[in-house]
Amino acid sequence: MMPLNLSELISEEKVTAKIQEIGQKITDQFSGEEVTAICILKGSFMYYADLVRAIDLDIQCEFIGVSSYNGQTQSSGEVKVTLDLTTPLEGKNVVLIEDIVDTGLTMNFLKKMIMARMPKQLVTTSLLLKPAALKTDCTIDHVGFEIDNRFVVGYGLDYQGYYRNLPYVAQAQDFN
Ligand code: IMP
Repeated sequence: MMPLNLSELISEEKVTAKIQEIGQKITDQFSGEEVTAICILKGSFMYYADLVRAIDLDIQCEFIGVSSYNGQTQSSGEVKVTLDLTTPLEGKNVVLIEDIVDTGLTMNFLKKMIMARMPKQLVTTSLLLKPAALKTDCTIDHVGFEIDNRFVVGYGLDYQGYYRNLPYVAQAQDFN
């Protein structure tokens, strides 16, 4: 593994508090209705696991795999579905859960794909958003933290497959 020169950007405590806040908002938004929560693999697995536990509703868990980065620090601009959902979304309340929105291409691609499956409602959330990196208009219903256009790892986010298990978000000094 190539060691990165890291510094903590968002502490575990701040992430936890923010997730409780977003979980409560989503709970209130759907008030008693059932939801299908979609985890965008791989990066969202940690945010997803914590967020679904902060949502007090009946939840079905689904997973979708996409790749756009090919292990690099810049988006390839191409989104590829590597694992599809196992159930239809027609008529369902869907919560799409992403770790980070960078160019916005992945989120917009998935929003379009999900809307084509005719859910009752789609709500989107991303723990992190890099507003300066957006290459397209991309509206997210619940954003945890807006961050600078710097490469980050930890709390599910990786560099070449590593660092996902850090319990906080760290900034890599080596890039940008
Ligand atoms: P987008 O399509 O450019 O918005 O990129 C979304 C995906 O790129 C995310 O789901 C992450 O997997 C990855 N990504 C974007 N920025 C970073 C970063 O700073 N660190 C690690 N992964 C990132």
